Amino acid sequence: MASLNPLSTLCLSYLLLLTLFLSLAEPAITSSKSTKIGQGYRLISIQDDPNGAITGLLQVKEKNDIYGSDIPLLRFYVKHETESRLRVHITDAKSKRWEVPYDLLPREQPSPLKQNIKRLKKNSLSVSEHSSSELVFSYTSDPFSFAVKRKSNGDTLFDSNSNESDPFGPLVFKDQYLEISTKLPKDASLYGLGENSQPHGIKLYPNDPYTLYTTDVAAINLNTDLYGSHPVYMDLRNHEGGKPNAHGVLLLNSNGMDVFYKGTSLTYKIIGGVLDFYFFAGPTPLSVVDQYTSFIGRPAPMPYWAFGFHQCRWGYHNLSVVEDVVENYNKAKIPLDVIWNDDDHMDGHKDFTLNPVNYPRPKLLNFLERIHNIGMKYIVIIDPGIAVNSSYGVYQRGMANDVFIKHEGEPFLAQVWPGAVYFPDFLNPKTVSWWGDEIRRFHELVPVDGLWIDMNEASNFCSGKCTIPTGKVCPSGTGPGWVCCLDCKNITSTRWDDPPYKINASGLQAPIGFKTIATSAVHYNGILEYDAHSIYGFSQTIATHKALQGLQGKRPFILTRSTYVGSGKYAAHWTGDNQGTWENLRYSISTMLNFGIFGVPMVGSDICGFYPQPTEELCNRWIEVGAFYPFSRDHANYYSPRQELYQWETVAESARNALGMRYKLLPYLYTLNYEAHISGAPIARPLFFSFPTYIECYSLSTQFLLGSSLMISPVLEQGKTEVDALFPPGTWYSLFDLTQVIVSKDGTNVTLNAPLHVVNVHLYQNSILPMQQGGMISKDARMTPFSLIVTFPAGANEGEAKGNLFLDDDELPEMKLGNGYSTYIDFHASVKEGTVKVWSQVQEGKFALDKGWVIDTINVLGLNGNGAIGTIEINGKPTNVKIDTTKQNYIHGRGDGEKNIVMVGMKGLNIPVGKSFAMTWKMGS
Ligand SMILES: *[C@@H]1O[C@H](CO)[C@@H](O)[C@H](O)[C@H]1NC(C)=O
Ligand SMILES: *[C@@H]1O[C@H](CO)[C@@H](O)[C@H](O)[C@H]1NC(C)=O
Ligand SMILES: *[C@@H]1O[C@H](CO)[C@@H](O)[C@H](O)[C@H]1NC(C)=O
Ligand SMILES: *[C@@H]1O[C@H](CO)[C@@H](O)[C@H](O)[C@H]1NC(C)=O
Ligand SMILES: *[C@@H]1O[C@H](CO)[C@@H](O)[C@H](O)[C@H]1NC(C)=O
Ligand SMILES: *[C@@H]1O[C@H](CO)[C@@H](O)[C@H](O)[C@H]1NC(C)=O
Repeated sequence: MASLNPLSTLCLSYLLLLTLFLSLAEPAITSSKSTKIGQGYRLISIQDDPNGAITGLLQVKEKNDIYGSDIPLLRFYVKHETESRLRVHITDAKSKRWEVPYDLLPREQPSPLKQNIKRLKKNSLSVSEHSSSELVFSYTSDPFSFAVKRKSNGDTLFDSNSNESDPFGPLVFKDQYLEISTKLPKDASLYGLGENSQPHGIKLYPNDPYTLYTTDVAAINLNTDLYGSHPVYMDLRNHEGGKPNAHGVLLLNSNGMDVFYKGTSLTYKIIGGVLDFYFFAGPTPLSVVDQYTSFIGRPAPMPYWAFGFHQCRWGYHNLSVVEDVVENYNKAKIPLDVIWNDDDHMDGHKDFTLNPVNYPRPKLLNFLERIHNIGMKYIVIIDPGIAVNSSYGVYQRGMANDVFIKHEGEPFLAQVWPGAVYFPDFLNPKTVSWWGDEIRRFHELVPVDGLWIDMNEASNFCSGKCTIPTGKVCPSGTGPGWVCCLDCKNITSTRWDDPPYKINASGLQAPIGFKTIATSAVHYNGILEYDAHSIYGFSQTIATHKALQGLQGKRPFILTRSTYVGSGKYAAHWTGDNQGTWENLRYSISTMLNFGIFGVPMVGSDICGFYPQPTEELCNRWIEVGAFYPFSRDHANYYSPRQELYQWETVAESARNALGMRYKLLPYLYTLNYEAHISGAPIARPLFFSFPTYIECYSLSTQFLLGSSLMISPVLEQGKTEVDALFPPGTWYSLFDLTQVIVSKDGTNVTLNAPLHVVNVHLYQNSILPMQQGGMISKDARMTPFSLIVTFPAGANEGEAKGNLFLDDDELPEMKLGNGYSTYIDFHASVKEGTVKVWSQVQEGKFALDKGWVIDTINVLGLNGNGAIGTIEINGKPTNVKIDTTKQNYIHGRGDGEKNIVMVGMKGLNIPVGKSFAMTWKMGS
């Protein structure tokens, strides 16, 4: 939840109109010259570093005072850290500057700054090549610039060199202003740079502002700095025609920044820290996220139930209401795994407390016992702000341990839901212990199954230096609780509160301390909030993860609003306070897809919108998209009417349909979670991840993939009962009706039927999709028999298909093979000259065998034939299972009827999942 500013809601409709209007026009690639600041630097020395890096010194060419004075001498450090990762680090040669702490984001330290770097012969080292590296570093000396090229094709990936005709200037490095740019070819498609609701879709749009600074911007969230900061982009090019060519660029810096993307260049303007670039060579989108997450941390393993459906709301006034919600989901036969509380369960909105009247502990424990017994889970919210209240234990212990962020020697005073609060400083090891202890105490009070950490940008209802007004009681919580009632003065006297360059904070060029912690406030060890602002939520996430893992010995589940580079290693994310509008339904797809690229694949938006209320039709369409978000949760604001999925009969029906399918797909989703954890592969992906050379899909933001081959094509517009969907080349089968086939050689648009309760989901050729039979709770769905869908290119005489399945004990903290509690299976199939084979290769089958899991059904799609088939042999023995052959219909392509394609379905197989099998038969013709 967030503060609702009525003014911003008014602005919004204007912004939406403006956006609609603008989106009709083609992106203008401007070449307007921006102000160039200074003459840049010149290289004065360079040498090989013993650890395989090269270091050099840069001297400023001409000083000026725009945005402060230039740092006279810089040190640059370049290293091929792996075959596919190149690092370029530039900092002050004489003194240490702020960097993202090495303990929060573990990585190599550049070699220490040295005063005497020997002067080498000019240009003796103009190129750094590492024999096995795909990335080549080169530079120019005067003015200094650098470029990164791809070795295999000579393509320039990054080039900071500029001349008179470029719209950007050379490197600028001041204490509070850093600027660097790169040229980009016209055909580069860029993705990333968030968190930002991108009204133009996933592909970065020239001249849209991209400001990165963690912010709780209530309601207006178009193109502004939102809750997370991810200074990383993926660049996808296809100028070789047919060869995928993607790379990633991370600028590891936590200070506020504006990034200007102009189509043929990109400029970073940053208000502090260092330039610490990491280039990831790709060359496929999947290999970029693999390389990226191997550096920033692999996505967290999620428990199985986290892939179930979640219901939340701010405004479940008492426990009876919560019990009712659970009961009503059950009555309506809509699956539900997790029930949540926003802060309604708290006493006076204070963290780690229970309201004794509305959430009496004995009754709550009784309720939790009942739901835990059937496999359901319970999660509550925690905000970072700790109420300033001398009779509140959490506060008392916090003060005793000195855990709070300070300003002028006193804890920094802010206001959030409980009224006046102090913010814990999670960079302080003492705070981390105290926080862990508070979580432990709370867990003894209420055995929650996960924690939801909100408002951690950090959000503050006041700005500046505040005091508690004497004789005035601040309202707490709902009502006007979000209006600042402390006595506050803006702080403008320091260069941290009022830096020379103003990033476009809150999309309003607001002061950077606006409605957050004053940037002159101080953390542990003298760290300034100015530098650490955007890692506040990240540091809280790590502390929370540590606490939960230590406490339960189980795989933690954490949902966080604010994220930074590396957050995905610990937590899931939802896209914050969205609105119940069709535009927001569309934006949710782009944001979800971006977070997959950011290494936070467990992501979703508030289904049906947080505020204001959705229409019934919108809520139908939203659950049809939301049922396929990796993280699927309905959540609403206190001021919205109730919007649980059973509140409307039509929505309930759409939910039974779409969530019913999700629950059948749980083994697939869980396997994707495993893939994400071992290779960073996003769970929900843009189409270009599977079709990187199919340019048509580069900006597609209205459809998405789950894994490599399941495509969701939802209705995203009001009043529509059809959807125009893009189908990349090949064969696609409708998942809801396996007999419906779409085929094209070069890709095609198809108008699909999509009445209110229908969402179109298609499975691509060459896949083997593991499914189960679904259920009302994932724990039960998990124990049902398995089925496999095998897809070949329609009517092909030769083809192959594959898929996989990962199963484990999801309570274990780690998700991996080799612990005795997991099983991994590769499925294969082939068809050649009328002979069909389907087989599996099982690794560590014991876990699956102990559970008694079996494959009951296999459907093989796209076979060429007239319906007659020979004897089916399993492991060399004839079988007499029930076999159906069903004719399949082209709903697009091959409309000529010249080909007979059939689906062969087998039921009652009873093949143990944990044992390798092989099955074969001949097709009649
Ligand atoms: C300046 O750069 C542009 C493109 O980056 C290039 O086309 C042009 O030839 C360069 N001009 C000079 C004078 O070097
Ligand atoms: C719980 O809240 C609901 C809705 O506000 C109210 O109707 C009901 O009486 C309350 N029940 C209890 C036990 O307090
Ligand atoms: C402080 O907390 C106590 C109980 O935890 C509560 O009764 C009291 O109202 C709170 N005081 C203020 C000023 O919020
Ligand atoms: C403090 O700054 C904010 C943001 O610029 C401004 O809206 C507000 O009026 C200022 N308040 C005071 C007391 O100057
Ligand atoms: C700041 O961001 C807002 C919201 O996207 C945008 O409308 C405005 O043009 C930006 N201002 C500047 C100076 O970039
Ligand atoms: C699909 O339709 C879009 C929008 O009308 C069009 O730009 C695109 O070229 C079409 N693609 C194919 C493969 O027909």
